[in-house]
Amino acid sequence: MGKESGSKKNKKKNKEPKTQATVLRSRTVNEEDNEATGVSSDESVHAVVGGENIHDEHSQNNDHIDAENVNNHSVQDDEDAQSFEGRNTFKAQPVNQIKSSLVGDHSMASMSTNSGKKKDEKKLDDGNQSRKYLRHALIIGVTGIVGNSLAEILPLDDTPGGPWKVYGVARRPRPPWNADYPMEYIQCDITNAEETQSKLSTLTDLTNIFYVTWANCSTEEENCEINGQMLRNVLNVVIPNAPNLQHICLQTGLGDTNNVSHDPPFYEDLPRLENHNFYYTLEDIIFNEVVKREGLTWSVHRPGLIFGFSPYSMMNILSSLCVYAAICKYEGEPLRFPGTKEVWNSYNDASDADLIAEHQIWAAVDEYAKNEAFNISNGDVFKWKHLWKVLAEQFGVENGGFQEGENSISMLEMMKDKGPVWDEIVMKNELLATKLDQVGGWWFVDVVVNNDTRLDIMNKSKEHGFLGFRNSKSSLVSWIDKIKSCKLVP
Ligand SMILES: NC(=O)c1ccc[n+]([C@@H]2O[C@H](COP(=O)([O-])OP(=O)(O)OC[C@H]3O[C@@H](n4cnc5c(N)ncnc54)[C@H](OP(=O)(O)O)[C@@H]3O)[C@@H](O)[C@H]2O)c1
Repeated sequence: MGKESGSKKNKKKNKEPKTQATVLRSRTVNEEDNEATGVSSDESVHAVVGGENIHDEHSQNNDHIDAENVNNHSVQDDEDAQSFEGRNTFKAQPVNQIKSSLVGDHSMASMSTNSGKKKDEKKLDDGNQSRKYLRHALIIGVTGIVGNSLAEILPLDDTPGGPWKVYGVARRPRPPWNADYPMEYIQCDITNAEETQSKLSTLTDLTNIFYVTWANCSTEEENCEINGQMLRNVLNVVIPNAPNLQHICLQTGLGDTNNVSHDPPFYEDLPRLENHNFYYTLEDIIFNEVVKREGLTWSVHRPGLIFGFSPYSMMNILSSLCVYAAICKYEGEPLRFPGTKEVWNSYNDASDADLIAEHQIWAAVDEYAKNEAFNISNGDVFKWKHLWKVLAEQFGVENGGFQEGENSISMLEMMKDKGPVWDEIVMKNELLATKLDQVGGWWFVDVVVNNDTRLDIMNKSKEHGFLGFRNSKSSLVSWIDKIKSCKLVP
């Protein structure tokens, strides 16, 4: 893996420095400038990989899993570290020089950025029953915006810490856009303790948990209670039944609620705020559990606004904006920015879903990332007034921009009668059958475009050896390509 992973076409266009962190992002497209012009698409986005291994309930037959390998993990960790080192052509000078010489799967940042073509070439040997797995991952929330990226990246041949055996949990049946990733799919509602017990207790080979789910309740107190119970249900089953469990990755977020916040940019070691916050609840549960098992470690990953793909995500800004743009195009209306002038003009940052997945995998295998909380964002900034132009171009719709002197538009309000319009768009373009309320998270768009920007910084990750980054404009375009290629929007 490494530099050679990008397609030639993209390598030529890519004007970023040829670091491992950039050249492999071959789902990215034209990165000619920082102004939002001339973005073209790359149709090779996310080609299907591997064979199918779909189970409504996980298989109890672990014949092909070599649990003994788990016990050799420390040896393999050394090998991983060495191989990362060997691949590391882009070596920053982190504060801790010892760490920098030992860690830093800087190739991690590039690993999952392989183009669909590259992934296709890998021809994962999921069908090979004799495959020896080194780590066994449980992704809770496997069809979500980051869960789906983890499901795609973890089984790849050159994913650090692997070969990875993957189990994925969500409530709904496995959707078609997730069905080709080699994993065992487990339908389970983790709010239900009995169901969680019966469906996860047989996963005795687990070494890693990636917790990328949540429940959205009407108050933060309820969020703390329900989300806390969900995590407890999982840990109460997995910890006693999986003797080789090594590491838990918990995804939370930047973390303020009730508009009470620290002054941005956020960094990881700011003190907790006074208000209720379910992220704190989740962290505390993990902290309490890991002390009970020697050697069990954790990491917390705090993204900002996520750019990614999943029609099952409760907060997917890009999918919603794509649907909005498609409706504007269909009705012959300009694509107006629905938010405030401040948000239109201010600096923002985003977190690419693949990058977040890479960050979690890095923390899962790298000794120096253990027992730490990290921000995870792309490492650049953008302004909506620039990305809006890109969005309009992608859908061939007039850029209505921000209308000076007009109030911001509530997307919830604007979209409340558009269900039949969406039905027509779906039918005429032969899209996947969806209803407007399934594909548009309008409340979330309203939150994003009307609230102050919350920039974070990535210094701590870099100092610990993670140098991955994304160009946010390219990230936006590549995920739009993916959303289109899955026939969710025209
Ligand atoms: N999305 C963002 O932009 C964003 C930004 C910053 C922070 N975060 C934080 O990241 C964390 C994870 O959120 P996310 O946005 O990545 O998740 P998400 O995209 O909404 O995905 C949730 C996943 O969990 C599954 N799920 C939900 N409830 C479940 C249950 N009771 N039992 C089993 N599976 C369940 C969902 O599938 P089913 O519905 O089929 O069960 C789906 O696979 C949250 O703490 C969130 O606040 C998100």
